[in-house]
Amino acid sequence: MSDNGHGPVDLDSALHPYRGKFSSHTKLPSAGIARDAVLNEMQTISGLEEKRWRDGYASGSVYHGGQEHIDFLNKVYALNSQANQLHADIWPSAFKFEAEIVSMVANMLNGDPDKGVCGCVSSGGTESIMLAMKTYRDWGRAEKGIAEPEMVLPISAHPAFDKAAQYFGIKQVKYALDDSFRADVKAAEAAITPNTVVMIGSAPNFPYGTIDPIGELAELARTRGIGFHTDSCLGGFLLPWAEKLGYPVTPFDFRVPGVTSMTCDTHKYGYAAKGTSVVLYRTPELRRHQYFTTSDWPGGLYHSPTFAGSRPGGLSAACWASLVTMGENGYLQATKSIMDAVNTMKDGVKSIPELRLFGDSVGVFAFGSDELNSYELLDAMSAKGWALTGLQFPPGVHVSPTLRHAQPGIAERFVSDLKDAVAHVKANPNPEGGMAPIYGLAATVPDRTVVHDLLKNFMDMYYQV
Ligand SMILES: Cc1ncc(COP(=O)(O)O)c(C=O)c1O
Repeated sequence: MSDNGHGPVDLDSALHPYRGKFSSHTKLPSAGIARDAVLNEMQTISGLEEKRWRDGYASGSVYHGGQEHIDFLNKVYALNSQANQLHADIWPSAFKFEAEIVSMVANMLNGDPDKGVCGCVSSGGTESIMLAMKTYRDWGRAEKGIAEPEMVLPISAHPAFDKAAQYFGIKQVKYALDDSFRADVKAAEAAITPNTVVMIGSAPNFPYGTIDPIGELAELARTRGIGFHTDSCLGGFLLPWAEKLGYPVTPFDFRVPGVTSMTCDTHKYGYAAKGTSVVLYRTPELRRHQYFTTSDWPGGLYHSPTFAGSRPGGLSAACWASLVTMGENGYLQATKSIMDAVNTMKDGVKSIPELRLFGDSVGVFAFGSDELNSYELLDAMSAKGWALTGLQFPPGVHVSPTLRHAQPGIAERFVSDLKDAVAHVKANPNPEGGMAPIYGLAATVPDRTVVHDLLKNFMDMYYQV
């Protein structure tokens, strides 16, 4: 059993809301269905799904969402929908767009392409991070003879680093945060071993939106000849502009001498369509450890810079179009409106005595409570239509505010709904149903393999027709 915010529901139905309501196919239809019929059904489904994100109820998810912007990106995608970077001879435009995206993002993050800062476009933050980690594994092996590579990272770093560690056989040495929800520099130093190939910091991290002390962490790495990766997937397109607006952004980018690579997602606050991100390296030599080449295949000489073979050139075209039409002024304005909404939302949290903010963040923020169950609070917010994220260790609620929250009245609605939710949870502790018991259980089960199995069952269910 689970909960949709309005009482207990069956998990299977919650994951498959369209069963019995729309056409469903377990085998190819013997005769193709009319295009109009397919389009009609899709329009109905997308109409059902857009309300929550369009009206600013969702944390993150859709970072721009303005209709004109979406229509424009869709037009650009349509023009380029057949393009494939694997066939650069047919579509040289695809690499023109990607080379310029990399250069624009590098410059935004104070990396000078003329001094060697370079990178690649990938399919998203996770791929960018995994590419960087594979790069350090291969760099460590080639340059330092490290056969059993290790990465040193705070517990708040994104799970993409865990995925890279699993996929590429890199040992993780994780350490705790300090009281301000930032990486603890002393603990980081203690975690370094002769096998460390890379250290990691986030600017900001996903759970709390806090910026790790990148300057100090990267200096530890630099003085030991270790790589340092700043993960700015989430905030890479927000922090540079927040800094210009006067918000307290501590140095996190290529201005920090020890930073040797970064990740920055164009498909988040870069306002591109979903499916692009950028991984940057301080030197072309480092990037070469990312590349894949083979010379012995009967199908010919083969090379590919990222994980995929064929790639959607249309997404890179749309990403480029988002960057050049937004421009510096567009990003500055967008960040200003988002930060105004953030200030209203955070002031609202601060005004509620039962709640406390987790650390000093810029943009993304999180809060919890010493007296109330945060997951019951999350359920009460879900009942009002909000789609926020639950945190664990400690329990809390995360919010990634976007341009959707910068629409008139949305931040104020967040505050009044939160006040109502707090009052509701105080008046109705330990309710039946909802996600709260599931979150609570998942956080306390000592045997974590049970939780892993649960999550795998969950994914199996998604794939049931
Ligand atoms: C800090 C951080 N890094 C990496 C990622 C992974 O990005 P993606 O979901 O695009 O793979 C996220 C996603 O929210 C993130 O917040």
